[in-house]
Amino acid sequence: MKLIVAGSTGFVATEIIRQAIRNPAITSIIALARRETVLDNGVDTSKLKSVICDDFINYSEEVKKELAGADACIWTIAVTPSQLKSMTLEEVNKICYDYTVTGIETMSQLASKEKPFRFIYISGENGERDQTKKPFIMGDYALIRGKAESYVLNYAKDSKGAVVACCAKSGLIDAPGRMTFAKSMLMAVVRAVVGLGKVQVSEIAATLINEAVNGIGKDTLLNEDLVRIGSGLLESQKTL
Ligand SMILES: NC(=O)c1ccc[n+]([C@@H]2O[C@H](COP(=O)([O-])OP(=O)(O)OC[C@H]3O[C@@H](n4cnc5c(N)ncnc54)[C@H](OP(=O)(O)O)[C@@H]3O)[C@@H](O)[C@H]2O)c1
Repeated sequence: MKLIVAGSTGFVATEIIRQAIRNPAITSIIALARRETVLDNGVDTSKLKSVICDDFINYSEEVKKELAGADACIWTIAVTPSQLKSMTLEEVNKICYDYTVTGIETMSQLASKEKPFRFIYISGENGERDQTKKPFIMGDYALIRGKAESYVLNYAKDSKGAVVACCAKSGLIDAPGRMTFAKSMLMAVVRAVVGLGKVQVSEIAATLINEAVNGIGKDTLLNEDLVRIGSGLLESQKTL
């Protein structure tokens, strides 16, 4: 199968690509980003193609050619909370919402028509779909993320089976050695105050690859689902 990883230069996407390379069901990976996707030395990149896109609102014909015939996309492009201060709300909306809208529309129109195109959107636990309920913390951001989730799910619903979609509402995504001890203590306090979960990057990557390869079960995966499914998959891979 052909998998697109959008936002392939990012933290989560890098782990998704590492695991996708090892997955025999995935025969082609399109690493889509605004700059080249570079992996560690020694990683087998024979089924990976780095595709640079300089406009996520109007895809060039060259980029569209690379996206054509894909079976699934895992979409990771977004502004993360730490970047919010350096951007206007308009820019955040463009990257988190407009890019996602154009992404699912463009990719699904170019997709292989043999089976439904699977679009997997990573959002955050705090993404609020009900646009009348502005959360107290990062309210505007939470509404934009929730609006993107709703668009993706409604687009799939209206596609008459051509597209199936899933939103992964992740808590804090961690990796061994990612945070210093002090930062991880601070984050534990912040998470307790705002009620945010935590998932390992290997667990979310394993879960989303499984959805892309084997089909989408639930249209919304909560943080606890990502931990449960991902840890189970990683455990079973150890025994293979
Ligand atoms: N990390 C977490 O703890 C966490 C928790 C909950 C949810 N999530 C969600 O998981 C997803 C991935 O997060 P991450 O931590 O992997 O983020 P990340 O490392 O910042 O990666 C984000 C990706 O989006 C791309 N991107 C950002 N702004 C862009 C723009 N203006 N134009 C084109 N591409 C742009 C980045 O490209 P460049 O590399 O070129 O900047 C990168 O490829 C996001 O939706 C995030 O909200 C993350």
